[in-house]
Amino acid sequence: MFRTKSVEQSIRDTEEPEHGLRRTLSAWDLTVFGVGVIIGTGIFVLTGKVAKETAGPATALAFVAAGVVCALAALCYAEFASTVPVAGSAYTFSYASLGELPAWIIGWDLVLEFALGTAVVAVGWSGYVRSLMDNVDWSLPAALQGPDAPGGSFDILAFVLVLLLTAILVVGMKLSARITALVVAIKVTVVLIVIIAGLFFVKADNYKPFIPEEQGQVSGSGLDAPMVQLIFGYEPTTFGVQGIFTAAAIVFFAFIGFDVVATAAEETKLPQRDMPRGILGSLVICTTLYVAVSLVVTGMQDYRELSVSAPLADAFKATGHPFYGGVISFGAAVGLTTVCMILLLGQTRVFFAMSRDGLLPRFFSVTHPRFRTPYRPTVLLGGIIAVVAGFTSIDELATLVNIGTLFAFVVVAIGVMILRRTRPDLPRAFRTPLVPLVPILSVAASVWLMLNLPAETWLRFGIWMAIGVVVYFLYGRSHSRMNREPAGRR
Ligand code: ALA
Repeated sequence: MFRTKSVEQSIRDTEEPEHGLRRTLSAWDLTVFGVGVIIGTGIFVLTGKVAKETAGPATALAFVAAGVVCALAALCYAEFASTVPVAGSAYTFSYASLGELPAWIIGWDLVLEFALGTAVVAVGWSGYVRSLMDNVDWSLPAALQGPDAPGGSFDILAFVLVLLLTAILVVGMKLSARITALVVAIKVTVVLIVIIAGLFFVKADNYKPFIPEEQGQVSGSGLDAPMVQLIFGYEPTTFGVQGIFTAAAIVFFAFIGFDVVATAAEETKLPQRDMPRGILGSLVICTTLYVAVSLVVTGMQDYRELSVSAPLADAFKATGHPFYGGVISFGAAVGLTTVCMILLLGQTRVFFAMSRDGLLPRFFSVTHPRFRTPYRPTVLLGGIIAVVAGFTSIDELATLVNIGTLFAFVVVAIGVMILRRTRPDLPRAFRTPLVPLVPILSVAASVWLMLNLPAETWLRFGIWMAIGVVVYFLYGRSHSRMNREPAGRR
């Protein structure tokens, strides 16, 4: 259960022609890739909801808090990704350091993160497209507007988007990277328009109070209160200083994606040098933009009046500039497509790595004879995610994605410390500074954010992980390739 797969073995596996991926990506591609997946539903949609319901103008501080947590984790991810440059991200890293069961747990956890993340973004995209359609007086029948809309039950747009992206991924990485670059340019331009044009409409009055006074939380079962408030028996509240952390645990979703960059290590030309550059570079760019956007938007409009479905565009409409509103909606809709696609890609790569190791059926790790893509897991998971995206609402899924991701951060940080002790000899192109201080801080910061998520989310996460452990004992443990490797090769 705690057998580890050596780093050398992981790298050797990628050299088997039938099970290997092509190396085509540079540091620049990775940064574009990173920014492509990081900026998405988090900033375009969740900012409004969080400012309105949890933190007010102090949402900018929530972005800073979440950014710090991610920066600590990124320093750990960068060391791992540059040491073990194989598909599968945190999954591969933990296989090399912690052992098979922890690796399986992480892989299973990442499946949750990426699959539900894809669904969340697809649903957010669908909302923006519907709002664009409204501008030209088109609308879908109510039943097809998705479960979040009144009278809706199936989100046809989100469903179709996921299927289309699945097809693109099957055809190959090259095509996806090109589309990504174009879309990232559009998305960043739109974010810059929000910041620069929005600056002219900021009113100082909207920042008073910057941190709104604490308020009691109206809640039914109590399970939707943050875990930390329940543990310490506080009366659940929103706003105030506590509200900033509750908000940070939610807007954390906006940062998810830099870890996805690590999943592309096997497709990177010079992973040792380019991985850390790609991961840290995209994170720095995004944090700066998020803080600026949230400051501008809460400055343009009273936080109590922000819209929760398209807050960036609607803030411009509210100040009497519908043209900007339209441009932003369009850019957001275009931008969310790449986020969705890259999350879906990360998802299939983790699944691919797990199957290559025999923890999932090997059937899934055979690449396409012509496109060299892991088309089998792509098609299977794309289909499932399309259905999930069609039938589920955003809110609860986003917190579940966050808890899963934060859990992976904890494991990666611990993994860095363990691998330093067990394999001090390995070449590390990027070394996490101040080990063990930075990894320990990273664990503490991630656990703190997890505790700020609702108790309900913890419960759902626990159930998903329990299912994973059962699957491991019923299938993975006996089918693992480690059963067949001679001891000397491990
Ligand atoms: N960080 C990505 C987003 O905000 C997942 O949509």
